[in-house]
Amino acid sequence: MPLVTMKEILEEARKGKYGVGAFNINNMEFLQGIIEAAEEEKSPVIIAVSEGAMKYAGVEYIYAMVKVAAEKASVPVALHLDHGKHWDKIVLAIRNGFTSVMIDASDKPFDENVAITNKVVDLAHAVGVTVEAELGRLAGVEDIVNVDEKEAILTNPEDAKRFVELTDVDALAVAVGTSHGAYKFKGEPKLDIERVKTIADLVQIPLVLHGASGVIPEIVELATKYGAKLPGAKGVPDDQIKLAIEAGICKINIDTDLRLAFLAAVRRELTEKPENFDPRKYLGPGREMVKEVVKKKMRLFGSSGKAA
Ligand code: G3H
Ligand code: 13P
Ligand code: ZN
Repeated sequence: MPLVTMKEILEEARKGKYGVGAFNINNMEFLQGIIEAAEEEKSPVIIAVSEGAMKYAGVEYIYAMVKVAAEKASVPVALHLDHGKHWDKIVLAIRNGFTSVMIDASDKPFDENVAITNKVVDLAHAVGVTVEAELGRLAGVEDIVNVDEKEAILTNPEDAKRFVELTDVDALAVAVGTSHGAYKFKGEPKLDIERVKTIADLVQIPLVLHGASGVIPEIVELATKYGAKLPGAKGVPDDQIKLAIEAGICKINIDTDLRLAFLAAVRRELTEKPENFDPRKYLGPGREMVKEVVKKKMRLFGSSGKAA
């Protein structure tokens, strides 16, 4: 089917109280792995593309690939700009057929974040593109040393309410103790679930969890067995993700887990078959491992079967 907007996917998720994964891609193999998983799980899916991914692959290539993938698929697929920070990149994404964009002005003061977000909302909504904004700073709980700092970094529920009243965003990313990458926690991996609940009670739009990778121990072990160096890598456990969804999270962003899955498979192939020089023989297993991880995520998030 043709590409859909993120809003269409997330409004259903919010009503049905399940989560939908936004999975980052930079190339064809990741996209194919994710779409195959979505088809097999009968799950809606959001394909996320960062500014860096647009630069790496070229926005026209990205759009062409995702358009074909969506049209061939029988499940809803949205194409979303992840962490749009520059006006020209946001315009580029919209002009090239993205159905959704994120404006990330979370590093700016509240009023400035509102003003920048509104500018993007005006442009995007005029052409039927939906918008995600972010309030609060993604920082691992380990980096937060005291209560004052915690309040300054994590999303303040009253601010979230005001932000949504002052903007017309379609989804809001909140900071509740996750961070990007493979090293999220030194100690106990725990999110501020109460904060999610409070925000969800005050804000009537879908909430987004960034930095949601689990840094799956078996995958890290496999990659390490074949030479990767990832000491101390730790992510968000599955039970915390479940609690976050129950508390009101609708969109769950996953990049690191797919990078690690692909890495583990490619390393294994290259190590076990050093005589091979056909790229399909190591990129294919990478794609397969991405697919397996995405399928597990869809079951965990509760989106499996929702596009049946
Ligand atoms: O949140 C950011 C995503 O993981 C994308 O990362 O900017 O390296 O493409 P990237
Ligand atoms: P991870 O690094 O936990 O996969 O987070 C990805 C993300 O938030 C993309 O926006
Ligand atoms: Zn993110």
